[in-house]
Amino acid sequence: MNYGPLLFLGILLTLAGSWFGLVLVPNQQLGALQPSVNTNTGAIYPQPIPGEAAQGRELYRSLGCNYCHTQQVRPDGFGSDIQRGWGKRRSVARDYIYQKPVMLGSSRTGPDLTNIGERQPGYDWHYTHLFNPQITSKGSIMPPHAFLFKTQKIGFDGPSTNALKLTGEFAPPAGWEVVPTAEATQLVEYLRSLRSSVDIPEAPLPKSE
Ligand code: HEC
Repeated sequence: MNYGPLLFLGILLTLAGSWFGLVLVPNQQLGALQPSVNTNTGAIYPQPIPGEAAQGRELYRSLGCNYCHTQQVRPDGFGSDIQRGWGKRRSVARDYIYQKPVMLGSSRTGPDLTNIGERQPGYDWHYTHLFNPQITSKGSIMPPHAFLFKTQKIGFDGPSTNALKLTGEFAPPAGWEVVPTAEATQLVEYLRSLRSSVDIPEAPLPKSE
């Protein structure tokens, strides 16, 4: 007997079934998700990130930060992300609607960064940490990103306002200063833009908020 047509039909059904279940149905459920509007304040969430932060996001991608950092907070019962302070609520599909591609990440060599903008809002901390993680987080295995900074001679009008405050073994030679490049600023703007503590219907913040 010729099993060819039966085999063909079987393969077709398997492929069509998985396309239906993994592509069509999820796309119908989530594909048209819109930002949510807070009925009390009128605030819209999420919003596309602005200029410098958007450029920083491309740097985050190109530097491979997402090989060590995730951006997804698991719900209670599926991990201790919320207890660890990585976010006040779980991440949901709506959080990602403006992200292309989505930086979910799969390995957590470092902490989750979904809400890092709220956890570390300061420029100084981010610059210093990026320049050399040993300064802010001794023993860190995160690689230094000193190439995002410029060591330059201090000008006649004194140190630059954005010069890093480095001491001890990390300090530049006398008369020199370390300043962030445009790339470092973009990356830090991106990190500071990562905030997820927004009440949305499918993932409300805990009541005490
Ligand atoms: C080899 C893995 C690795 C890579 C690559 C990496 N990190 Fe990290 N990162 C870590 C680890 C480990 C920590 C925790 C210790 C520390 O604070 O340095 C960390 C911490 C951080 C923190 C502080 C998180 C917190 O909760 O305090 C930020 C922000 C951060 N990394 C940003 C970045 C950015 C931006 C990049 C890409 C330019 C990057 N990381 C690349 C491993 C990595």
